[in-house]
Amino acid sequence: MTTVLVTGGCGFIGSAFLRIAVRENPDWRFVTLDKLTYAGNVANLAPIAGAPNHTFVRGDICDEALVQGLFEAHAPTHVVHFAAESHVDRSIVGPRRFFEANVMGTLTLLEAARANWRDFDGKVFLHVSTDEVFGELGDTGKFREDTPYSPNSPYSASKAGSDHIVRAYHHTYGMPIKVTNCSNNYGPYQFPEKLIPLMIQNALEGKPLPVYGRGENVRDWLFVDDHCRAILAVLERGRVGETYLVGGDCERNNLDVVRQICARVAAVRGVDPASVEALITFVKDRPGHDHRYAIDASRIQRELGWRPAETFETGLERTVQWYVDNREWVDQVRTGEYRKWLDTNYGGRSS
Ligand code: NAD
Ligand code: TYD
Repeated sequence: MTTVLVTGGCGFIGSAFLRIAVRENPDWRFVTLDKLTYAGNVANLAPIAGAPNHTFVRGDICDEALVQGLFEAHAPTHVVHFAAESHVDRSIVGPRRFFEANVMGTLTLLEAARANWRDFDGKVFLHVSTDEVFGELGDTGKFREDTPYSPNSPYSASKAGSDHIVRAYHHTYGMPIKVTNCSNNYGPYQFPEKLIPLMIQNALEGKPLPVYGRGENVRDWLFVDDHCRAILAVLERGRVGETYLVGGDCERNNLDVVRQICARVAAVRGVDPASVEALITFVKDRPGHDHRYAIDASRIQRELGWRPAETFETGLERTVQWYVDNREWVDQVRTGEYRKWLDTNYGGRSS
């Protein structure tokens, strides 16, 4: 029996993973563990509500007793570890909880796996991480699996710390780990604090579109379902002890991304794109802002045959349409805490 403990399953990527994996694997059992921070929302799992092979548990990955209880109650054979504090700007304002959740939380899960997995046969601990652990690139080159770690933000430092613990558990204890380091995701259900959903939402509401610095920073974008398919491929067929870099081969600078969003939103609303682009506002840059990320995804392509299904154009079209059709979801996640964050982050960033 395959039982998958999915941490952070109510977040953006974890919920996308569950919406795909729970339906496609009716003979597997899934247990979601999520603290439901500002970024976690049970409504993200509405499409699989009532699925007989899925159980939701609210709780903190740092809570040793709770995690131990879950291992005893459900005997997971696989862990897919998404839970994390994930937003770079928030890590700059308040780093501590990033290290608590991302480093200590990962350690707690690994310790529970070590204590409860009598043998490692048929077991997998898949750690979901980011390309930001490698630091920033100049105008050329790509990250590869052997690129040295060089994290720059508190967020990426905390994720790098967690990657190192996972690797050390494999080296020291033989823990059957797998690691994925993926580029920037976008798609439905993304909390509207990150670039793409924030810009879509603000453009739909006619609010300013705050571009940091001159908008020249480059990210590699991947539609969230493509990331989830990569995670499933690694979970089922990836080599134990290995890292797989996942990316969309889709580099864009931020200003181009925002302009493309303006064009899509204008098309949906039937207005002149220039009137939406007029909302673009250049604001004070992020401290320590990484210039460019890019991924060489040839290992996962070659070994596991993974390829993204969406282009940036098709993925962005789906994403904008989702936010147009799901205004209630956005209203629901905009808690008082979120409004406070908008004031904290953008309040002092006038151009
Ligand atoms: P998210 O912020 O949308 O969701 C995080 C989820 O984790 C939320 O449901 C939250 O409630 C939960 N969580 C946070 N702290 C917890 C704790 N202590 N105990 C239990 N649950 C907790 O994040 P996301 O964008 O879905 O990212 C998921 C994972 O993928 C993260 O590990 C992130 O580092 C990684 N990742 C994200 C991206 C991206 O572009 N978003 C890219 C590559 C890798
Ligand atoms: P973000 O979505 O926060 O992801 P990450 O920092 O993990 O790459 O930001 C993506 C890019 O967009 C990054 O270069 C910062 C920039 N950005 C803005 O210009 N304005 C914004 O309001 C936000 C949130 C991000």
